[in-house]
Amino acid sequence: MCGIIGYVGSRPCKELLLEGLKRLEYRGYDSAGVALLEEDGLHYVRAVGNLENLKRAAASNGSRVTHGLGHTRWATHGTVTEANAHPLTGCSERELAVALNGIVENYRELKESLLADGHTFSSETDAEVVIHLVERHYDGDLADAVRAAYDELEGHFSFVVIHRAHPDLLVGARCQTPLVVGVGEGETFLASSIAAFLPETRRVQFIEDGDVVSITPAGATFQSADGTTGDPDIVEVDWDEESAEKGGYETFMLKEIYEQADSVRETIGDRVRHGELVLEALEMTDEQIRNLRRIVIVACGTAYHAGVVGRYIIEEWARIPVEPDIASEWIYRNPVLSKDTLVIGISQSGETRDTVNAVKLARELGARTLAITNLMGTQITREAETVLYTRCGMEVGVAASKTFTAQAALLSLVALKLAQVRKTLPPEEIEFTLNQLYELPRKIDEFLDADHPIEEIAQRFYDKPFFLYLGRHIGLAVALEGALKLKEISYIPTEAYSAGEMKHGPIALLEEGTPVVVVATDIHVYDKIVSNIQEVRARGAHVIAVATDGNEDIQHHADDVIYVP
Ligand code: F6R
Repeated sequence: MCGIIGYVGSRPCKELLLEGLKRLEYRGYDSAGVALLEEDGLHYVRAVGNLENLKRAAASNGSRVTHGLGHTRWATHGTVTEANAHPLTGCSERELAVALNGIVENYRELKESLLADGHTFSSETDAEVVIHLVERHYDGDLADAVRAAYDELEGHFSFVVIHRAHPDLLVGARCQTPLVVGVGEGETFLASSIAAFLPETRRVQFIEDGDVVSITPAGATFQSADGTTGDPDIVEVDWDEESAEKGGYETFMLKEIYEQADSVRETIGDRVRHGELVLEALEMTDEQIRNLRRIVIVACGTAYHAGVVGRYIIEEWARIPVEPDIASEWIYRNPVLSKDTLVIGISQSGETRDTVNAVKLARELGARTLAITNLMGTQITREAETVLYTRCGMEVGVAASKTFTAQAALLSLVALKLAQVRKTLPPEEIEFTLNQLYELPRKIDEFLDADHPIEEIAQRFYDKPFFLYLGRHIGLAVALEGALKLKEISYIPTEAYSAGEMKHGPIALLEEGTPVVVVATDIHVYDKIVSNIQEVRARGAHVIAVATDGNEDIQHHADDVIYVP
């Protein structure tokens, strides 16, 4: 996820912007840039890699400038290059620029119409359409132009625009992506995170989706979609810098759990357009997809569990046999491969040696290869023939969380694409499923925002010496991942098992009060899961079921229930 910071005031702002970008560094970035408004118009400094590169490149620029915009980029559309680094400009470079976070889902359509109008593009990003739209609509009033541009955009994003004709003004807007005003004395900030300006001011104003906000050194004005102006309360935050980086959460992992809706939203993003699937980067012809005989998914840890999810959905929807495998095992067993096999390597970091080596080996053995990863330019992207990116931003927590759900979402899109070409699902079912996927981020947020007995259950069981996690089908993949998380962060020995296999041994581990977490959502094996729950309870174990909202039946079988949409 990218970072934005803008400043208007009376102090020289280059250092303020660079310091702000530094504080956004924890989010991860691959390139960064600033736009500084000098007397002869906007000047840009952009650099790939470390922020030190940007600092060095900016050393001789605009030291007296008091109006500027900075950005750290985590590439989603277009490679990691200076040309793709923000702030991005329209046709007239010195006049106006934008810094954007998030994804513009309808950028292809917009770009086509802008190109037809004679606009020329200088980057490969989706974000550049925004500044060309502002340029197209600009008629002397920057806020009006931003509003008109905003109304044409689809997706989830926040952005800030700077214009030469308006010294001391920045205009921004947000849609499901953070943007916040920092209110100083005779100076104002507009940033994607409070962390960016925290040492300068703790007084903030939050912006609503659909508002266009204009900041000047005197403060901010807010204009909602219906033209009315608002004046949100100024809130004083008492976070220290460390908790600001964590967005107020106790740990990065918790913050990242709460970021799941965003990372799934970004990952699906412009790949689903009005029920249509756009997955160009798969780079396989329809004939190659039809000729696929087998898929092997290689990965480690959490990514492997995402691969297990992948197996169930790809087999179910695209009717291709799928073998998820642990990369460190697979590479040492002389795998049997041919050119009609697709090997998918999944790695959040893109650097896990065994997974990278597995993809390399698969390619050497003549299979087709696809990498699923979260970061451009990493090892796995160099070894695989094709790459699809999850768009989660940096995952700071060592225990993976948001990348797991994003990987599962992306594998769902791959499965649907294969099903579409192979005609193994009727078009209306594909469209229905795509719409469901599109709804997923909202459901994740709904779940995370609602009350659940999770903390109370944790209080009751945290000192138990052993946990068992059970599931079937996709629920097994989820159980495997849940158990990994429990052992990894609470050091409680935890076993995950296929619920049907439990009676063949692990049941011996159960005794009075052993906590058993059972994934018991409404799928075709629900009744079988209920039988397994009965076996568990016959041993006196305590069943904590994860069940689908509205399932009252489960109350008769489980001791505790956590409901999910
Ligand atoms: C578990 C976890 C690890 C990683 C594994 C693979 O919470 O984070 O198991 O999933 O080390 O890492 P990547 O996906 O970077 O290859």
